[in-house]
Amino acid sequence: MDITRVCVVGGGTMGNGIAHVFALKGYDVTIVEAKQEFADKALAAITKNMDRQVTKGAITAAEKDGALGRLKTALSPAEVKGFQFAVEAVSERMDLKKAIFKALDESAAPGAILATNTSSLPITEIASVVKDPSRVIGMHFMNPVPVMKLVEIIRGLQTSDETYRAVHELTVKLGKTPAAAKDFPGFISNRVLMPMINEAIFCLSEGVSTKEDIDAIMKLGMAHPMGPLQLADYIGLDVCLAIMNVLHDGFADSKYRPAPLLKQMVQSGRLGVKSGAGFYEYPKK
Ligand code: 3HC
Repeated sequence: MDITRVCVVGGGTMGNGIAHVFALKGYDVTIVEAKQEFADKALAAITKNMDRQVTKGAITAAEKDGALGRLKTALSPAEVKGFQFAVEAVSERMDLKKAIFKALDESAAPGAILATNTSSLPITEIASVVKDPSRVIGMHFMNPVPVMKLVEIIRGLQTSDETYRAVHELTVKLGKTPAAAKDFPGFISNRVLMPMINEAIFCLSEGVSTKEDIDAIMKLGMAHPMGPLQLADYIGLDVCLAIMNVLHDGFADSKYRPAPLLKQMVQSGRLGVKSGAGFYEYPKK
């Protein structure tokens, strides 16, 4: 099926980044948010990020205007009839994702592909609520979406070859590089990344080094763009904890136990950049 109309559910950091790249590549995109103020915030974030790309010369002002003209918002999937492709990018709660997939299933064009940007929840379980689970797939973008080249594509147990091929092709059309993973907890990206971040948090709490030196060692020593504690703040410590819990529960292996300090940071509301403080402080500009 020719994909021209795309529905992105969730306009937070990941959702607005996903809508941003689809709109820039010529797709008609509707962002579904629970409230109009959240939808407006998503459009404002996209405009700001595109302005930044225009300033840097990555896109032209005409490309930005064209993309913004292809973006709409809605308050439910039911308002967005006839889309051929949907990506869900809401918070990592299985009950919420299942409710959204049921609603998407009702409104999508026949044969539409329904993708989830989940960072670690099982695709197979999300797919269980729709009529045809062969059309459900994981399409895991990385933050910041307009910049990061990777899309991790995850096949649920019943995802068809046709769905996989279509999403692979779509990823390439978006200018991204696809890489495949099976539906195991954390897939590849977060199964490898999160234990590294968690271990850095153990090192900090055990006093092995300071946060600055832990980050400097990994940043300069391993050529990572950010140290693990800075990256954890950037991703969101609540997201990091949720993923560690998925790994811990999914594999029932103590090597994935979340660091107690990570739990405390989340309990105290220090969630990273988004809350203004995490391992580092982020004063509002
Ligand atoms: N939208 C558009 N462009 C953006 C952007 C955004 N949201 N954020 C950054 N950019 C652009 C900048 O304009 C700049 O463009 P240029 O190369 O043309 O100058 C470029 O990206 C670099 O940005 P900055 O100069 O502001 O800053 P840095 O050089 O420090 O890069 C960074 C910022 C791209 C965030 C870099 O630090 C980085 O790559 N960090 C690691 C990110 C990472 O690991 N992401 C994966 C997280 S894990 C994940 O997402 C999975 C999830 O499931 C948890």
